[in-house]
Amino acid sequence: MLENKVAYITGGTKGIGFGIAKILLENGISVAFSGRKKEDVEKAENDLKQYSENVVGIVSDVKILGNEEGAVKKTIEKFGRLDFVIANAGLGIFKPVDELSAEEWNDMIETNLTGVFYTLKASVEELKKSEGYYITVSSLAGANFFENGTGYNASKFGVVGFTQAAMIDLRKYNIKSTVIMPGSVATNFNGNVPSEKDEWKIQPEDMGNLILDILRMNPRVLPSKIEFRASKPGR
Ligand SMILES: NC(=O)c1ccc[n+]([C@@H]2O[C@H](COP(=O)([O-])OP(=O)(O)OC[C@H]3O[C@@H](n4cnc5c(N)ncnc54)[C@H](OP(=O)(O)O)[C@@H]3O)[C@@H](O)[C@H]2O)c1
Repeated sequence: MLENKVAYITGGTKGIGFGIAKILLENGISVAFSGRKKEDVEKAENDLKQYSENVVGIVSDVKILGNEEGAVKKTIEKFGRLDFVIANAGLGIFKPVDELSAEEWNDMIETNLTGVFYTLKASVEELKKSEGYYITVSSLAGANFFENGTGYNASKFGVVGFTQAAMIDLRKYNIKSTVIMPGSVATNFNGNVPSEKDEWKIQPEDMGNLILDILRMNPRVLPSKIEFRASKPGR
C-alpha cells in the first residue's frame, strides 16, 4: 500500500530524521531528505542507500522559503510525486530568558516554527494532488514548560497550535495532518552523543515505526496529536 509513495523529510542527515528515512526506505517508500551542509547531506545519502536506492539528499535550510520550494521541486523531478511531508528539522538552545540573545531566539523560532510553515507552504499544492499526509515533529516541550526553555518551549508550543489549525484547513482537501510530541530521543540534539546511557530513550527508528503505523491507519481515522514517550523514565 505504501510502495510507490514518496516522502520528504526535513533534517534527515542525523537523529530522528535519519531514523525515519531508514524505516520508510525499508518499507518501500521513496525518500527525499534535507540538511544544511552539502557534505553531511551526501554522507547521509550514501549511508541510507544501504536500505534502498530510492533516496535523495537535498541541501536546504528550512529558514529560507526559496530553499524549501527548491527541495520540493527536486523531489518531484526525482520521484514524480510527493505524498508525505515530515517537518522534523529543529534545534534547541537552553538558557535563562535574561541570557538568551535575540539571535538565539530568532534561530529557534525561524527554524522550529517558521520552518515548519515554510515546508508546508512549499509542498501544499503537491499534497493536494496526492491527498497526502503532513506530519510535524514538536516535542513534549510543546505542552510542558521548563527552566531555561523559553525560546524552545515557545517554538514547540507554536508547532502544536500551528499543526492542529492546519489540520482543520487541510482536511477539506483530504490531506491529513499529525503533530508528534516526542519525549527524550537518543540523537545528537543539543550536542548529545548517543551512547549506552541513552538506551532507555526513544530511538530514532521508533519514530520511524510510529510514522509507519500512522501512515498505515485506516483512511477514516486521523490521530491529530500524539504524545510519544519512553515507557520508563530516564536515569
Ligand atoms: N532528541 C530529542 O530528545 C527530541 C525530543 C523532542 C523533539 N525533538 C525534535 O526532533 C527534531 C529532530 O531533532 P533530533 O533530536 O533528531 O536532533 P539532531 O540529531 O540534532 O538532528 C537535527 C536535524 O535537523 C537538521 N536541521 C537543523 N536545522 C536545520 C535547518 N535550518 N534546515 C534544515 N535542517 C536543519 C539537522 O541537519 P544539519 O545539521 O545537517 O543541517 C539534523 O538533520 C527537532 O525538531 C527537535 O526539536 C527532539
